[in-house]
Amino acid sequence: MKQLQCVGTTDPVLADGDEPASNPSSNDYFGDILQAHLNRRTMLRASLSAVVAGAMATTLPFGSVFASNSGLTGPSLGFRAVPVSNADRVSVPKGYRVQTLIPWGTPISGDMPAFSLEASGDAQAHQVGSHHDGMHFFPLDGSSHDGLLVLNHEYVEPRFLHAAAAGLVLHRNDFPQNADGSRDADQVRKELNAHGVSVVRIRKGDDGQWHMVADRLNRRITGLTPMRLAGPVAGTEHLVTKYSPDGTMTRGTLNNCAHGVTPWNTYLAAEENWAGYFANSDAEIDRRQARYGIETRDSGRYQWHRAEGGADEYVRFDASSRGASASEDYRNEPHTFGWMVEIDPMDPASTPIKRTHLGRFAHEGVIFAPAVEGQPVVAYSGDDARFEYIYKFVSARPFQATSADGSLLDEGTLYVAKFHEDGSGEWLALAPGHNGLTPENGFADLADILVNTRSAADHAGATKMDRPEWGAVDPATGQVYFTLTNNDWRENGQQDGANPRPQNRFGHIIRWQEDGTHAAKRFQWDIFVLAGDQYDSRNLAGSSLGRDAIFANPDGLWIDLDRRLWIQTDIGESNMNRRRFAAFGNNQMLAANPETGEIKRFLTGPVGQEITGVITTPDQRTMFVNVQHPGATTSARDFARGRYRSHWPEGGKATPRSATLVITREDGGIIGA
Ligand code: FEO
Ligand code: CA
Ligand code: CA
Repeated sequence: MKQLQCVGTTDPVLADGDEPASNPSSNDYFGDILQAHLNRRTMLRASLSAVVAGAMATTLPFGSVFASNSGLTGPSLGFRAVPVSNADRVSVPKGYRVQTLIPWGTPISGDMPAFSLEASGDAQAHQVGSHHDGMHFFPLDGSSHDGLLVLNHEYVEPRFLHAAAAGLVLHRNDFPQNADGSRDADQVRKELNAHGVSVVRIRKGDDGQWHMVADRLNRRITGLTPMRLAGPVAGTEHLVTKYSPDGTMTRGTLNNCAHGVTPWNTYLAAEENWAGYFANSDAEIDRRQARYGIETRDSGRYQWHRAEGGADEYVRFDASSRGASASEDYRNEPHTFGWMVEIDPMDPASTPIKRTHLGRFAHEGVIFAPAVEGQPVVAYSGDDARFEYIYKFVSARPFQATSADGSLLDEGTLYVAKFHEDGSGEWLALAPGHNGLTPENGFADLADILVNTRSAADHAGATKMDRPEWGAVDPATGQVYFTLTNNDWRENGQQDGANPRPQNRFGHIIRWQEDGTHAAKRFQWDIFVLAGDQYDSRNLAGSSLGRDAIFANPDGLWIDLDRRLWIQTDIGESNMNRRRFAAFGNNQMLAANPETGEIKRFLTGPVGQEITGVITTPDQRTMFVNVQHPGATTSARDFARGRYRSHWPEGGKATPRSATLVITREDGGIIGA
């Protein structure tokens, strides 16, 4: 048995758990604009209403709905709010039931290897991954009792993944490592296979409980699965590697946070904090990596490149220039990450495709506007890092339901948002010859712009945001909502003196209305809520949030068919239940009325986790919600002693595991109504 030792985190990109780093460019700070905007709030709300009514009545796809319901009251929130909680359990409102499904390690395919901490790296490729995140339910034949649950596995906590970690002094970012700095190859394989996406058939039984079904459609997509690249960057010199000398293929997807569902019913997994996984010892690192946080270092997040045996699939996480040319090493491997990955859950033999025209950044997720026959496909995506941007893709070709497929995402225009102080905004095209993106200014062509999306957005003059996370599009009004989770690095003086928030610790939710269709170049924006406690928050009516509504760090966001806006929180591990954040308890989920701004807490989760990922069956009678990283607040010392802060979901002395919640009503009613 080899000697194992604890190492401190080696990840220079991530400050805590999965909290990302910042934008060094000098564009306007959104915080400055926010304060000026709030001062005009009353005036803006009046003018926004007029703009919205005018736009909706004429050109937006749901204009007729809006026009016929000018007195929209919004959805009911008919449940009794649950209080904040710091207990190691899930709470839902009275009259609701909750079941746990597919925890990490559940066998779903192949020879169905049983869950155990001793399970091998190959077994993990047939088991549900760890750190459940964005998720969608694809009904089979329209059923609300039978379908494919497709979910992301954002990252791993190696200490809870390996039997060999027991008794070691390991922090949540640590991993077992040999005395010489190398890593056990099977542990590396298990960690790679615990990342990615799961496709799992689930069915409601006669007992009312949902069960995993062994099915030919069940599939794991992992950090090792071969993938194709498509769009303007595919086949260019940026993507040439030893594995793919023609720059069209790569292996795996990593740090899949949120997701999107295309109008042609495929799944998109976002690659968020992928940069931290790479080492690069080169003395000079260009903007294709430097602007994403890769700097000269011989360490990666989990040191996968140091797996014993030096297999090619692990060595590639060292992006140093070691060969005579790019086709002889992995200097370009990081350029094959940072994309949105399209997966067809209905075809288990399909090769996932990274769609490069949606841009390269720390994609939190993607949200499509409702597709309209004969009009372009439009998708919004946030770059979750401090001072990064919100983007929109507009396809060149129109949507046609009978023929639409992923190739629609390979031609079009990527835009980045600029928010003006007067409540208007504009979309800046990131395309050759637009907004200064010319060869003279260092942007050779479209592929160069896209592989350097962040730099192009800097150059275009986009507005720096407070960590853009999930988005949602209101099906009735077309309004687009985005969570901005926090930005504790915004310094004093970067906002007006009257701003009650010298740092944006608690986050907020912004929304906007396009001036016309979703493909418009301009929009009007507003703030839906400033999250926080009863002393530092503001709802749509301008009041503080009450005890049933306080929350911090909005992250997951989804709007249901009745227009309930579901808000999920991700207070980071170092703040959770501490100091000012103690008021919020464990991470939670709330529901909001987009018309009135009313917010009510619906669910609280166990200790140390974040709530992320939410979807219902088509009949809205079953809701699926993910619980990610329970027990992550366990200290290194307590881990060594086996004293985990959470034993959820099994309880007793069990290792905490990410899992999916299944929520139903005792009376069989619509969730949240
Ligand atoms: Fe993976 Fe931005 O949350
Ligand atoms: Ca997180
Ligand atoms: Ca998230």
